[in-house]
Amino acid sequence: MERKEFIKTCGFACLGTTIFSSLLQGCVSTKSISVKINGEDLIVPLSNFEKDGKTLKYLVVNNSQLQYPIYVFRFSENHFTALYMQCTHQGNEVTAYGEKLVCSAHGSEFDNKGNATNGPASNPLRKFQLELDNHNILISLKKA
Ligand code: FES
Repeated sequence: MERKEFIKTCGFACLGTTIFSSLLQGCVSTKSISVKINGEDLIVPLSNFEKDGKTLKYLVVNNSQLQYPIYVFRFSENHFTALYMQCTHQGNEVTAYGEKLVCSAHGSEFDNKGNATNGPASNPLRKFQLELDNHNILISLKKA
C-alpha cells in the first residue's frame, strides 16, 4: 500500500470510529439531575424527562442527602420506577446504560425493574414507592 493510500484509508477509519462513538454515546447518554427533598419525598419534576423535543426513558437523580443516586425509569406517561443505585452484592454504585444497570465491581447486571439479571448479585435493587402529581414524581424515601 502506498503512503498516500495508507493515509487516506486511516483517515476514513478514524472518521468512521469517531462518528460511530458519537452515535453510540448519544444512544446511551444519561441525564443526571439534582433534585430537592420535601419532607420524606424526593421531588422529581416531570419536565426533566423532556429534552430537545424528545421524551427520555430514564433519569439519574441525586441529592446531597443520598449516598447513592436513584435511577428513575419511565415505562409510560403514568408508570415509573425508582431504583437505588447501590449494588446488592457488595454495595458498589451501579451505572445506568439505558434500560440496564451495571456494577463495575464484579459485573452484576440489573434490568429497569431492578431485577438481577447477571450475578454475582442475586437480590433486586432497592425499589422506592412513588406517586405522581400533575408536575412531579414524588419518591418516598421512607424505609419500606
Ligand atoms: S459489588 Fe456489585 S457485583 Fe459485586
